[in-house]
Amino acid sequence: MENKFQKNILCIGAGYVGGPTMAMIAYKCPQYKVTVVDINHERIKQWNSSELPVYEPGLDEVVRATRGKNLFFDIDIEKGIKESDIIFVGVNTPTKTFGAGAGMAADLQYWEKTARQIREAAESSKIVIEKCTLPVKTALAMERILTSKNSNISFEIISNPEFLAEGTAMNDLEFPDRVLIGSRETESGIKARNEIVEIYKNWVPKERIIESNIWSSELSKLVANAFLAQRISSINAVSALCEKTDANVKEVSRAIGFDSRLGAKFLNASVGFGGSCFKKDILNLVYLCKSYGLDEVADYWEGVVKINEYQKERFVLNMLSSMFNTLAGKKICLFGFAFKADTGDTRETPALYIAKRLIEERAELIITDPKALQNARIDLGGIDGIVYEEDPYKAVVGCDAIAVMTEWSLYNKLDYVVIYKSMTKPSFIFDGRNILDHNQLYKIGFNVFPIGRPPLTHY
Ligand SMILES: NC(=O)c1ccc[n+]([C@@H]2O[C@H](COP(=O)([O-])OP(=O)(O)OC[C@H]3O[C@@H](n4cnc5c(N)ncnc54)[C@H](O)[C@@H]3O)[C@@H](O)[C@H]2O)c1
Repeated sequence: MENKFQKNILCIGAGYVGGPTMAMIAYKCPQYKVTVVDINHERIKQWNSSELPVYEPGLDEVVRATRGKNLFFDIDIEKGIKESDIIFVGVNTPTKTFGAGAGMAADLQYWEKTARQIREAAESSKIVIEKCTLPVKTALAMERILTSKNSNISFEIISNPEFLAEGTAMNDLEFPDRVLIGSRETESGIKARNEIVEIYKNWVPKERIIESNIWSSELSKLVANAFLAQRISSINAVSALCEKTDANVKEVSRAIGFDSRLGAKFLNASVGFGGSCFKKDILNLVYLCKSYGLDEVADYWEGVVKINEYQKERFVLNMLSSMFNTLAGKKICLFGFAFKADTGDTRETPALYIAKRLIEERAELIITDPKALQNARIDLGGIDGIVYEEDPYKAVVGCDAIAVMTEWSLYNKLDYVVIYKSMTKPSFIFDGRNILDHNQLYKIGFNVFPIGRPPLTHY
């Protein structure tokens, strides 16, 4: 049975990265057997059910086409390690919450446990691939752990960071801008690197597969996220100035985005970036810089996170001052809770910060979202009185204000005349994603507060 496959690939960690990436490899390479394991048995059960633990457009179809054929989700990690030639490690690497580097450095405990598990269970040589985002030089530690057992088994470490974006993961995996594969530049390192290149060559054009030394590869992932987040913080910083100067940030974005040196992407002003990666990876970069004594460089990148925090708080203070300096007892409906559209993921979502701040101001919250209500309930678990309502028309009844937190396209398609009629007057809309037709809403009767453009008010 086993022998019918050319390669046995294992992925440790069945999360937002491990599940979709392995599903795509299985889909594009029917000649390989791909197994995904996790210590979280409930998650594995979900991967084996019709309700996958991750929502991504197109994921269901790919999993349905491969599961049970050459894609398997399993809880037996030891067996998986023994049977595989190639092991991807896609475990979580959150920000450390304790001890040295708390709030900044990467917490590598899950990753290190995985390295030890591989070392204990392996009975033959393996290629171990860092799929998770790690501080530069982590491969060195992994090598030390893996070679610390006296045996004639060898391990080659490869860095192959994942660049997918949640919400478009399947498209990003099928048509990646690039796949980055870094290795030691030794004979065995290059041989292992070539093996991983072979996997991706099944569907990724050769010129999009970039090879590099292992440290450049590890660092590139952190730097890519830092640059992306930096663009958001840059335009968000400009949005604050636009609001004071009668400029419109959308017009500014458009004008600068036409410059081919800058490009048009990632220039949307908003309530701030979220997601499990940007903040964590920048802080990780900041910590690295500090630990190498590069304080000015660290401060520079930390500014990106600071502007993001400022933008979220600015949004709340703007709501407060616009609604006559008190939110106590006012009903506010959050349109969206996910950190971005087309995902149910709420990790580091700006909506969580805004929700908590509004509760501090004693507002009454109603939250609506097509995919993230379950996570919202967990995130806000300890707080009584919040209403969760999937139907936005029901959610807004009797509300004083709507705050758009997520750029779900459905919010553009709603009938705002109907919504306006059902709300308390005066009615407010704070468009934290700048996706609505502000002039139209103003004509209907709303007081409209876009990001990066002076408000449109009837008073
Ligand atoms: N989410 C993204 O958009 C994204 C994109 C690119 C890179 N990354 C990086 O990929 C990594 C994983 O991110 P994620 O979003 O998939 O995280 P996640 O929390 O969704 O998944 C990680 C999984 O690893 C499992 N795990 C932890 N320790 C384990 C162990 N010892 N053995 C087996 N399983 C174990 C956890 O139970 C969890 O299911 C992180 O380093 C992240 O920075 C994430």
